[in-house]
Amino acid sequence: LPTKLGVIGGGVMAEALISRLLAHNTYTADDIAVGEPTAARRQFLLDTYGVTVCDRNGDALATAETVLVAVKPQVFTHITGDLAAITAARPLILSIMAGVPLQTLEAAAPQCPVVRAMPNTPATVGAGMTAIAAGQHVTPDHLAQADAIFAAVGEVVTVPEHLMDAVTGLSGSGPGYLAVIIEALIDGGVSVGLPRATAQTLAIQTVLGTATLLQTTDLHPAVLKDRVTSPGGTTITGIAELEAAGVRSALIEAVKAACQRSQDLGSA
Ligand SMILES: NC(=O)c1ccc[n+]([C@@H]2O[C@H](COP(=O)([O-])OP(=O)(O)OC[C@H]3O[C@@H](n4cnc5c(N)ncnc54)[C@H](OP(=O)(O)O)[C@@H]3O)[C@@H](O)[C@H]2O)c1
Repeated sequence: LPTKLGVIGGGVMAEALISRLLAHNTYTADDIAVGEPTAARRQFLLDTYGVTVCDRNGDALATAETVLVAVKPQVFTHITGDLAAITAARPLILSIMAGVPLQTLEAAAPQCPVVRAMPNTPATVGAGMTAIAAGQHVTPDHLAQADAIFAAVGEVVTVPEHLMDAVTGLSGSGPGYLAVIIEALIDGGVSVGLPRATAQTLAIQTVLGTATLLQTTDLHPAVLKDRVTSPGGTTITGIAELEAAGVRSALIEAVKAACQRSQDLGSA
């Protein structure tokens, strides 16, 4: 059977995508072939998902209409030959390699439609945020296809490539910021007498619930804040402390610094 999706690198992010693309019936196991160097990992992917697994990337890509590049960026130079070998068929190439620009990808796969994607860690539980940027040979159909593939692991937005560093600073690094915020909320709970496990449940569900509320209702965050602050009440008292500590500014500067760091790493 001809393979529809060829995957280079059967790691964490590739598995997140494969498992949900199969669950959503976007592809069947027969449609997917994965090139992966580690034998134990190949066996795991075969046993768990029934996808074709290959020692040599070329075998996984031979008939692929769409190619997902899911290796670490440092490995990219080792797989450019595998891409060059299949450019004649003009497959749609999707890259999730952090920091590898479209120009570099297009040089490795001349004339091919290339989409660069930046997913984040919650993609591994289907709650990801992926930004995609289109290369010069990408048609609206290609972009829709890329969108459908990354939609399997969460939300998708399309941005011009020059905003990828900004995306990295917000949604890419954001899970780290929120982990720190949640940990601090838990410590706050413990400091006012809650058992740690209880504080953890309260903190996580509060963050998740607030995000779900904002997403579901489309309410502006400032409107929600106004609604939950009664005059002289507990919430405005807590917010006054957040403002005094410069929480807004800290978060704004965190996104700016991470964006700058992403730019620096990209041009290094
Ligand atoms: N995980 C995330 O949350 C996340 C978020 C945003 C972006 N990304 C990006 O996604 C990419 C993949 O990340 P990941 O977390 O999925 O990494 P990962 O789990 O390390 O997956 C990479 C896989 O590629 C395999 N590999 C190494 N060399 C190869 C080669 N020459 N040919 C084929 N496969 C090869 C690795 O096998 P071995 O283990 O045997 O080396 C590994 O299974 C990275 O560029 C990362 O920046 C990840």
